[in-house]
Amino acid sequence: MRKISTQVLSVWILILFGLLAGTAAVAQSDSGERYRPLLHFTPQRGWMNDPNGLVYNNGVYHLFYQHYPDGSKWGPMHWGHASSTDLLHWQHRPIALYPDSLGYIFSGSAVIDQVKRSSFARPDKPAPLVAIYTYHDPKGEKAGRNDYQTQGIAYSYDNGKTWTKYKNNPVLKSPGIADFRDPKVNWYEAGKKWIMALAVKDHIGFYSSADLINWQHESSFGEKEGAHGGVWECPDLFPLTVNGKEYWVLIVNINPGGPNGGSATQYFIGSFDGKTFTPLDTETRWLDDGPDNYAGVTFSNTGARRILIGWMSNWSYAQEVPTYRWRSATTLPRELSVRLVNGKPLVSSRPAAEVRTLEAAKQSGRGIASLTKALAANRDSLLRLDLTVPAKDFSMAFSNDLGQELVWGYDAASNRLYIDRHASGDTGFHPDFGKTSYAARKTTAGEIRLICIVDRSGIELFADDGLTVMTAIYFPGKAFNKATIVKGDVTGVWNLARLKAVTK
Ligand code: FRU
Repeated sequence: MRKISTQVLSVWILILFGLLAGTAAVAQSDSGERYRPLLHFTPQRGWMNDPNGLVYNNGVYHLFYQHYPDGSKWGPMHWGHASSTDLLHWQHRPIALYPDSLGYIFSGSAVIDQVKRSSFARPDKPAPLVAIYTYHDPKGEKAGRNDYQTQGIAYSYDNGKTWTKYKNNPVLKSPGIADFRDPKVNWYEAGKKWIMALAVKDHIGFYSSADLINWQHESSFGEKEGAHGGVWECPDLFPLTVNGKEYWVLIVNINPGGPNGGSATQYFIGSFDGKTFTPLDTETRWLDDGPDNYAGVTFSNTGARRILIGWMSNWSYAQEVPTYRWRSATTLPRELSVRLVNGKPLVSSRPAAEVRTLEAAKQSGRGIASLTKALAANRDSLLRLDLTVPAKDFSMAFSNDLGQELVWGYDAASNRLYIDRHASGDTGFHPDFGKTSYAARKTTAGEIRLICIVDRSGIELFADDGLTVMTAIYFPGKAFNKATIVKGDVTGVWNLARLKAVTK
């Protein structure tokens, strides 16, 4: 009798354990943890969209971000916070800014007032870090008003640990235009003043200030220039020099209306005289043609370097992607420069030099035979491949044991690169997710230099030294552990590196 009951008990215990283990497995896959990138920054939990307040101060890079900590979809916005000394290993920090009576904390920027010119400088305190952001008042929006987006300020004397909101916020009220947001402030040395680029529905407003509190409208740009398939958001304005000539780059994010649908980043090149931005031409240029690089802006206080981080998603489906505990990653840091192509200035973006420090187990060789061999032996889902291909049809696949694959390549007839993720795993959460994305090359050079960086759930492709860039996310049932060249040839030396994970 006793024996039977022990047996019965063990069977029940086994069933119970089985059930619990099953539930745990479901819970784990449901949380989307297996998709969490190992190289790219993600919030510990909850929702993230735009990077905000990118600033370098006293050896520390700060990454603030649009964050809703209590859910995995967009909600009342906070500024999440992480910091790093190398742009790659990010330490999670307490939330920097919480919504308050003036509204949610939307996107914005941060500057360090080194010379203590702003109203926030104190003789007895270190140079202040000043955040300039948009207040979005949900009550005003609900009431059908059109002045519910205003600009506010918060400051910190301890390198971003603690923040105080300015007592007389907002510092810039809405002129009665509903979309009035995303201030990006830069110091304009030639005129010794701060310049704010602000997204105002279908154009950029430029404002200036000597103290960061009193803002004066200088000019507007863009109502008739560039792409207008959606609302203009998250601008940035900065100079870049090539061959001793200075060009001003104006970044304008747009949603929807991107080259492959949904959100994307366009830019203009021209001059800026402290008041007016004058473009060289009216051509629409895209910083990244892929579907998943949005709201990218650059760090302030990095000297001549211009380092951009974007949000690796797209408003078309960002809230539906199959990760639940956390949603969205940022791109790797990218270094921007201007390059002349047949005399025409274009912005190139390349992985920041720091990304090289992640490389381990490097291999290199020459030609397609040795690369095919190296790829066949490679079982890593984290890699960086630098190669050169003739400008003829070329394609590569990253695949897994489930037969899922991410294919990217070059189509010679149209001189375009493409990413095809229709068979890459879970694509069913949005009808457009499986569509192939294309990006036109900016040159017709006979060889294409390519850099391809692959993480668990995202690829970043850089062609022609960063003149054409594509970023795309994907959600394979199992990590891609095979890489093959499907079509084409490889010329010259290639480099293949396994990348060290930055998250555990
Ligand atoms: C861009 C954006 C910004 C806004 C923020 C709100 O993705 O729409 O214009 O400030 O996100 O979270």
